[in-house]
Amino acid sequence: MRLVLVGPPGAGKGTQAEFIAEHFGIPKISTGDIFRANVSGGTDLGRLAKKYMDAGDLVPDEVTNAMVRDRLAQPDAVDGFLLDGFPRNVGQANELQGILDELGAPLSVVLDLEVDFEEVVKRLSGRRTCKKCGHVWHLEYDAPSAAGICDRCGGELYQRDDDLPDTVRHRLDVYAAQTAPLIDFYRNVGQLVSIDALGAVEDVTERAIAELTPFAD
Ligand code: AP5
Ligand code: MG
Ligand code: ZN
Repeated sequence: MRLVLVGPPGAGKGTQAEFIAEHFGIPKISTGDIFRANVSGGTDLGRLAKKYMDAGDLVPDEVTNAMVRDRLAQPDAVDGFLLDGFPRNVGQANELQGILDELGAPLSVVLDLEVDFEEVVKRLSGRRTCKKCGHVWHLEYDAPSAAGICDRCGGELYQRDDDLPDTVRHRLDVYAAQTAPLIDFYRNVGQLVSIDALGAVEDVTERAIAELTPFAD
């Protein structure tokens, strides 16, 4: 399955990506996670991306597109993948189309996670991420048993720099202006499946898997 997840910041893309990718046995490719790994690794790419990420803006397309092109050429992506956070504007969607045409590997489906504005603000303000394994927690909705420590691996939890209220507001504006148009873009080509992403994490996962299963081969 070649799957793209779309939805506003805080919709639960990263949370669901982990379960969906595991269920279908495909690699999860999150552009945000790759950028963050480069930031913490102090690479040139990380230094460049950090400026944009801290402001809540998109990293320039030429940088992001090249990174995704490289990633999709890795052997583990040959039989399918889940993209989380890419494409994020129409230019990136066209680039993805071009890459997949070259590989002769068409996109299976685009899963759109629907949540309202108020909910995403709540989700982002309480989000905590594990430094070691990357698992995403929430102070209220999905709290680890010991404060500040990941139940899965014992790693330390941190709050993302771009989850500060002003940056969150800007990310939501960027989503509305640049990413939301992709919903119509993929609906028009008949590749969009939307699900209600409110409710418990497990319930959303169940809904997602039910909608996606017909596209698995
Ligand atoms: P990225 O990391 O992709 O951030 P985003 O799109 O803003 O999305 P988030 O990761 O904030 O939210 P999510 O939907 O993954 O939600 P999560 O599962 O964590 O991108 C960051 C930056 O990188 C961008 O701003 C940009 O600068 C750059 N970038 C990345 N890709 C790019 C691209 N293609 N082009 C250019 N630049 C790019 O969940 C949120 C919280 O809610 C968590 O605490 C979670 O525990 C909780 N939660 C999840 N589900 C539920 C539920 N059902 N009920 C209650 N709580 C829930
Ligand atoms: Mg995410
Ligand atoms: Zn962890």
